[in-house]
Amino acid sequence: MQHYLSMVLFSVDTADPKDVLWLRERGIPIDKMTTNPTSKSKVMKRIRDEEGRTVSSFDVVDMLLDLTDCPISVETLGTPDYRPETMDPDIFVQEAETIGKYDSRLVVKFPLVAPALVAARALEGMYPVNFTLCFSAHQADLAADYGGTYVSPFLGRIVAELERDDEAEALLRGIIEKYGKDLCSTKVLAASIRNEEQLMMAAKYGADVVTVPMNVIRDMYEAHGEGALAIIQDVRLRRSRRTVSSLWRPTYSKDFNYSEMQPWQRELLDAGVRTFLDDARSVGYSVLPKAA
Ligand code: G3P
Repeated sequence: MQHYLSMVLFSVDTADPKDVLWLRERGIPIDKMTTNPTSKSKVMKRIRDEEGRTVSSFDVVDMLLDLTDCPISVETLGTPDYRPETMDPDIFVQEAETIGKYDSRLVVKFPLVAPALVAARALEGMYPVNFTLCFSAHQADLAADYGGTYVSPFLGRIVAELERDDEAEALLRGIIEKYGKDLCSTKVLAASIRNEEQLMMAAKYGADVVTVPMNVIRDMYEAHGEGALAIIQDVRLRRSRRTVSSLWRPTYSKDFNYSEMQPWQRELLDAGVRTFLDDARSVGYSVLPKAA
């Protein structure tokens, strides 16, 4: 088993090509990008309102691919009608294949719910997967067990829900420690970061990736001026957790089990799924090509 050291990667949590230009003007490095139906729908609406043209979610992906050279996470929906009750593993599989075949830089984003895990098992590691909407240790175990390339714990939403930092911090630390102990290669992508403190906390514990929304980056520029770039560079010089080059293989040994989650964790997951689907519905976001 070979261990290697790696640094914290700086990802930007946006789907807006304008943001990429803003970051580029300031020399801010973009190691990765994460998008979701909320950020995609905002861009689709902005382009419609400002430029009077209708763009699809894949048009937005094309713009991002043209502007960057980093991996970009693209979210699946898993339902034909934007309803959580109709999420279906076969649809997740078709969406994952569409995304995975579209460009080798795209990472398939699966919500950490039961039908998406069934899909991940069927895909047998064919495409890189970012398991998102992680609020619990149980989901993080499943992300590793089902061969996730990344798991995205949603730190800021936990802090906002509980009005305390410690649960988010404990979840992140717990995942990093457990993955380290189990020699698991799934990378920890700290997501839903609301401020600089949460960013620094994730870097301190050695997340493999931090994905930071634009408002946090802009706030850092307000607070520190050009010094913000040095802070971001400093984050990228931090050592992330010790990863393994890995013999880790998915085991598919567990099933998703709501009862292994706290009520507030279940609520955050359900609300997160609903919000992404509602935002997707608001612009007709689709991952599958429209039927002719
Ligand atoms: O893209 C995942 C995540 O960072 C979104 O989080 O809570 O800012 O919507 P949030």
